[in-house]
Amino acid sequence: MCGIVSYKGKMNAREVIIDGLEKLEYRGYDSAGIAVANEGEISFEKRAGKLSNLEKALEENPIAGHVGIGHIRWATHGAATDINSHPHLSNNGRLAVVHNGIIENYRDLKNELEEEGYTFKSSTDTEVIAVLLEKYYENDLLEAVRKTRERLVGSFACGIISADEPDRLIGMRVESPLVFGLMEDGFIMASDIPSLLKYTRDVIYLENGDLVDIKGSSFTIYDKDDKKVSREVKKIEWSVDAASKDGYDHFMIKEINEQGPAIDELLRVNVKNGRVDFEEGSFSRQELSSIDRIYIVACGTAYHAGLVGKYAIERIAKIPVTCDLASEFRYNNPFIDEKTLVIFISQSGETADSLKALRLAEEKKAKTLLITNTLASSMDREADKSIYCYAGPEIAVASTKAYTTQLVNLYLLALDFSIKLSRIDEKAYEGILEELKKLPKKVDTLVKDDEAIKKFAKEIADKASLFYIGRGLDYATSIEAALKLKEVSYIHTEAFAAGELKHGTISLIEEGTPVIAIMTQDDLVDKTLSNVEEVVSRGARVFAITSKDDERIEKISDAWIRLPQTLDILYPILSVIPAQLMAYYTSTAKGIDVDKPRNLAKSVTVE
Ligand code: F6R
Repeated sequence: MCGIVSYKGKMNAREVIIDGLEKLEYRGYDSAGIAVANEGEISFEKRAGKLSNLEKALEENPIAGHVGIGHIRWATHGAATDINSHPHLSNNGRLAVVHNGIIENYRDLKNELEEEGYTFKSSTDTEVIAVLLEKYYENDLLEAVRKTRERLVGSFACGIISADEPDRLIGMRVESPLVFGLMEDGFIMASDIPSLLKYTRDVIYLENGDLVDIKGSSFTIYDKDDKKVSREVKKIEWSVDAASKDGYDHFMIKEINEQGPAIDELLRVNVKNGRVDFEEGSFSRQELSSIDRIYIVACGTAYHAGLVGKYAIERIAKIPVTCDLASEFRYNNPFIDEKTLVIFISQSGETADSLKALRLAEEKKAKTLLITNTLASSMDREADKSIYCYAGPEIAVASTKAYTTQLVNLYLLALDFSIKLSRIDEKAYEGILEELKKLPKKVDTLVKDDEAIKKFAKEIADKASLFYIGRGLDYATSIEAALKLKEVSYIHTEAFAAGELKHGTISLIEEGTPVIAIMTQDDLVDKTLSNVEEVVSRGARVFAITSKDDERIEKISDAWIRLPQTLDILYPILSVIPAQLMAYYTSTAKGIDVDKPRNLAKSVTVE
């Protein structure tokens, strides 16, 4: 959603904060702001629009200081305007706050504070924090923050400074993520690791409810009960390159290209001596024996990975699986109890609906397992078990390498369950593992096979709508492929089960309508081909993504991509790659900022 960066140290806070905000642009990018405490007052600058607008404003007004807070916003309460941008200041202008999250009771607080004579400039929920701080401030910022925290309901990661205590910076974490970096001569706090990497590798993942009080050159952490605590300092292994474009034009294409190595790394860690080995991340044979059904719960692309996971677990481990959207699951009164395993999938581990769904599953005593790319994320801390994707930071809003690594983990999980429950024979188990290990090279070849895709992408760039069709696993891939294309190209794209076309949808096909057909499954190719014939005879332009060397496909399609060979069940890992490339090249052909599509943010921490 939004991103915050706060700094206290010997460097110019403006420079460190702007640099950190650039790394958080994937979290939101409709306005940005910064405030520093210096010479007994708070100076600030904030601007609607991209971070570059703020940077331009700062050239005219180069505010400077050694303690400061910054924010990059993705509007939730109040439009993206200068006034609604963070930081927000108290009425007397002596306290400033940046906030990521939502204050659920802000209306009540605002009414109360207005009755007491305080005023509000913005229509944000955040401004109540600044005003509450003023109400409670009596020459001790920490005390004011504590009293303010008690009044707030919701999720909030904040950086707070005071003009009266310019040698102090306070960080507060309730629900929303906040990482605290220890530098050689200073401290940096941010919503996510990429902002810290240039300055330090030593970080503390703050726990829910923590307050960090940085005073002078030392800091103290207090937990939710205001007890002094020491938190483990962890070393970040990522390279700075992993969080930068590294020569690519965009993060999305860099991340598409990283999929081969990412899958390779995941298999290296999670497969040992020819066996799936999640160590503490999975359940024992005994625990699995008590499970009679599985739910997979997630949002967006992660949910689409779940659709493939359902198929893999049902086919390989023979356990019934229901796949549900987190935002629906929570209100569907799901039929779960202590015999249910709920698998959550979340790249960020912070998605609000998924996090709340996880809590619901735990309340109902289900066993929970998380597949995530983000160690120490909120969901990682709360799930019974966690399995990691090892994909490195995913910066582009459109998820690519997180999706394919989620798929690989789901296949591994299906194998792990099936062998523990004796539902697969050795030969089949080893056969699937062997094929999985061959995938990184095949993915590497496929990401370079982009000529036909680039050509078709140019052709569809000015179309109003497009359809993906497929059956079985190819239908699951079609759903993800359609999301990818629509989110970065703004072309209305729908996925249809190929066999459903004639039940209504085919009326949308007219002369020149682009249709992308995915055909990888032996037992379904003939059937899907008949559906392709149906759309071609109504004027569709067809692009085929297929694993088959089949003259009929080449004859009927205007263009095609042939996938390298693998097991039918594993094709979703390969067939999605041309679809990701199609989305990327269509978006860039239209001149869209592909890493930051409109109206979207990377991490969705609101419900
Ligand atoms: C689309 C995309 C989103 C996310 C969804 C869940 O490309 O990235 O649909 O998959 O917002 O996010 P996580 O996986 O972080 O829970």
